[in-house]
Amino acid sequence: MCGIYGHIKKGSKTNSAIACIDGLKRLEYRGYDSAGIAGIHQGKIVSYKTVGKVRTLDRVVQDNNLDLKMAIAHTRWATHGSITELNAHPHFDEEKALALVHNGIIENYQKIKKTLTSAGIKFISETDTEVISHLISFHYNGDIAKAVEKTLPELEGSFAIALIHKDHPDRILVATRGCPLAIGVCHDSKDIYISSDSNAFTGRSLDVFYLHDDEYAVVTEATIEVYNMAGIKLTKSLEVLNLEEKFISKDGYEHFLLKEIHEQPLSVERALHGRLDFKNGTANFEELSLSDDLLKKTTRILILACGSSYHAGCIAKQIFESLAKIPTEVEIASEFRYRNPIILENTLVIAISQSGETADTLAAVKEAKRSNSPVIALCNVKRSSLSRLAKSTLWLNAGPEISVCSTKAFTSQLSLLMLLALKIARTKDLDLAGGKAFLSHIENLGKQISAVISKAPEFKLLASKYASFKQFFFIGRNYMYPTCLEAALKLKEISYINASGYPAGEMKHGPIALISKDLATVAFCGNVHTFDKLLSNLMEIKSRGGPILAFAPEGYNEILGITDDVIFLPKQISDPFAPIPYSIAGQLFAYYIAILLGTDIDQPRNLAKSVTVE
Ligand code: M6R
Repeated sequence: MCGIYGHIKKGSKTNSAIACIDGLKRLEYRGYDSAGIAGIHQGKIVSYKTVGKVRTLDRVVQDNNLDLKMAIAHTRWATHGSITELNAHPHFDEEKALALVHNGIIENYQKIKKTLTSAGIKFISETDTEVISHLISFHYNGDIAKAVEKTLPELEGSFAIALIHKDHPDRILVATRGCPLAIGVCHDSKDIYISSDSNAFTGRSLDVFYLHDDEYAVVTEATIEVYNMAGIKLTKSLEVLNLEEKFISKDGYEHFLLKEIHEQPLSVERALHGRLDFKNGTANFEELSLSDDLLKKTTRILILACGSSYHAGCIAKQIFESLAKIPTEVEIASEFRYRNPIILENTLVIAISQSGETADTLAAVKEAKRSNSPVIALCNVKRSSLSRLAKSTLWLNAGPEISVCSTKAFTSQLSLLMLLALKIARTKDLDLAGGKAFLSHIENLGKQISAVISKAPEFKLLASKYASFKQFFFIGRNYMYPTCLEAALKLKEISYINASGYPAGEMKHGPIALISKDLATVAFCGNVHTFDKLLSNLMEIKSRGGPILAFAPEGYNEILGITDDVIFLPKQISDPFAPIPYSIAGQLFAYYIAILLGTDIDQPRNLAKSVTVE
């Protein structure tokens, strides 16, 4: 995973070390286990590495008055090797003649390491990255570009790399396969910027291009030369990027997570804005380049996603099937890519990813595209890799989601998926009245979300009662089952408590053995259609001494006699829309438990906002 940043100073007064630290802070969503920087000073590689977040490296850079005209830097999410300074990037060759940063995984690193070790080369880290540094050095014969060119075909796996060499103090070399890497030239200063993500170029106006797979570039203050692996020089077309500096604050909230939970009435409204077509009882997407005719011909839908985005897909499956009557499969992207999937004719592929950079989702989409099926992406981050792969991208417009734990992006995904289901259903059998009724429920969501958020004090109170439990079940039926998967993920992610989302009716087939006074069950009762069935499942848990907290629709007072605690949520209107308010209930519950446990809420341990490795 990880984020790479580089800078070459030309016309500005910018210190490359500071430019890189600034860039790394914007890339921290890609990992925050350790950070490092390298440049060249008086003919030698100078480098600093620190364990932990970029702000620690920032302090070290400032304390040492590091002033560079050219630098490469890295923020790490550990894959190979523990979280230590030695494993932090940059990595060097034996003589420390070169320094290299890497995003991705070198799959054949052990083989390369063995060969290099038997040639007498000594390794000092546990990383896969270090083999690249040594291999380039092994092939180095005075021409660093040729050494890189010789090295690339020997690497298996995915990578974006940036490196500097003390004998060539005017250049940064970069190369990619399967990982994004953007290069930008600033319009005013002509300074060069390199980044894993062009969104990290904010506050500047630049000409930008992305390297494609198996290309490398030699970047100096005067020229950027791009080559393919055969050493043939390529021409790149530039895109003008004007990225306004947006100061993103917590707006007085204690955490970004809480701010983002509270933003949901607005973010959902933005997802819906301009897309509701009441007159025709349908939805319109400016960005959708697929014709109604093609949508009408769709006989299967395949949804690809990971994590929370996958849960949004699981909820959407039920809506696509019940509203549009289209058989829908939802696949965890990391599983899909390796199982020889069958994609039938007239399948519409929907890839869901907040970041648009999730490696598994990108790889699954590439696999799906081999069948020539049209791909619609749902993304929040503009210019993301997924949006470049898809035929059409529907933007969530949720605004930047800073907290690693997804909240507002998830509810925006659901909102958009509902609209997409409606649009497709209207090209098929759903009549105008049905379309209009669906839209009126969607329009009502804002109020429901606000009503749930206004209950925050109740969630806080009950969190204090339940925070001491070490294990949780979140159970529900139909639409509430995938909503429970999402709620359990929220709790796991930010409170580090073990939680499982489970279909309530399935408990009796095994998991009920776990029920005891020490395991708490949170019942999501937002599927009115199956409410009575759920009550029976809860009785079964109660009879075995399991404590139960329920989230239930107002007016369903039968729940009071069964559960230990209840938080009543807005009166239920229609089951397919309940996942949005109920998932917000899950977010608030997890948040207040995490507060009590004192975890790192916005950047939980071991995680990254964007998972850019397999
Ligand atoms: O950016 P994506 O939507 O592709 O990310 C997918 C998952 O990594 C993500 O949803 C993850 O599960 C979140 N941390 C959940 O809160």
